[in-house]
Amino acid sequence: MPQELRNIIEDIVREYLNNALILHYDICTCQKCRQDIFSRVVAKIPPEYIKLAQGEKAPYEYISAIRDKYKGEIVKELMQAIESVGQNPGHPITEDKAKAFGALLDRILQDRNLDFRQYNSGIIKRKLALRMRESGLESYAEYARFLTHNPGEYEKLLAQLCINVSEFFRDPEVWITVRYLFENLIKEKKLKNEKSLVIWSAGCASGEETYTIAILLKELLKEEAQNFSLTILGTDIDKKCLSAAGEAIYTKESLKNVENERLKSYFTPLEGGCYQLKEEIKKMAGFQYLDLIRQDHIKETDVVFCRNVFIYFNRDLQEQLLMKFYKSLRPGGYLIKGKSEVIFTEAGRIFKDIDTNARIYQKQAV
Ligand SMILES: C[S@@+](CC[C@H](N)C(=O)[O-])C[C@H]1O[C@@H](n2cnc3c(N)ncnc32)[C@H](O)[C@@H]1O
Repeated sequence: MPQELRNIIEDIVREYLNNALILHYDICTCQKCRQDIFSRVVAKIPPEYIKLAQGEKAPYEYISAIRDKYKGEIVKELMQAIESVGQNPGHPITEDKAKAFGALLDRILQDRNLDFRQYNSGIIKRKLALRMRESGLESYAEYARFLTHNPGEYEKLLAQLCINVSEFFRDPEVWITVRYLFENLIKEKKLKNEKSLVIWSAGCASGEETYTIAILLKELLKEEAQNFSLTILGTDIDKKCLSAAGEAIYTKESLKNVENERLKSYFTPLEGGCYQLKEEIKKMAGFQYLDLIRQDHIKETDVVFCRNVFIYFNRDLQEQLLMKFYKSLRPGGYLIKGKSEVIFTEAGRIFKDIDTNARIYQKQAV
């Protein structure tokens, strides 16, 4: 079989370029620009030739050694080339990216009644870039047209945009504090002879957080449960997730923080390694579609969990939602956010930080 000389540097640059472009969603990634970036980088790195038959792959160890040798240099040259092509793409710019991005979000709002206009634009652009590359499209306008003609693509895009990773007892140390909070809340309710307890998990993904709340309350209330009118509600905009919450079948991975005792008490192992939540917990929680941005919030809540949802929203939207949560809570009610989420100073006046580590805030009278 005829052999050819292959410059392995080209293979490595191609691989790095694909990965780097995922992070650089704001530059043109048309074939011409890609080629331009690629050629600039290859020209800067000394070639490493190997003789291979057509279609034959170079040995893994060989590529690995060359990758290690030139990694730093390739990444440095790649960043410079991306920056320079990004600023001067070498062809007339066919799309006003900011405008086309806005138009695409308007299209999604119109078609699906989902408003991503105030989400963190960096996150949304990165997710869009992934879908666009997968679909072989280079401009937002092309992608908007593609969405119109391929309704299946909408499902794929929404699955990307609604980042719905979750797990039972996520950040286990937080739930130790939450348990203590629930205990006190129940005591206060009993003292005041109040019967209703409303807990809302806003942005509940597939129900992991909602059912974690149910497990804790089951254990705390025991036979007193019948003395309370208990509402545990999970809401989300991802309909697939809501339907999975109804099924209540979970992978071992999402149960990794569940102690063995609880696993045995509340879950039934299924064939294939998954677990199904038992009916006694399942029936304690309800789920419904609720778009936090566009719909009214649940009223008269005692505790709102909105964890790992705000990270996707821009600051203005976060402020607006905090006001809505404020109205949703009963006097002295609690808002619990994700470990990496803080409440900004404006809203700091109406929410008192009562546990910085667990991100628990209490509604203040104003
Ligand atoms: C990362 S998950 C968080 C799940 C859970 N709260 C936790 O901390 O494990 C974020 C969820 O927010 C939901 N979400 C995003 N935008 C939303 C909106 N506008 N209204 C309601 N839910 C939304 C997503 O669909 C996703 O299920």
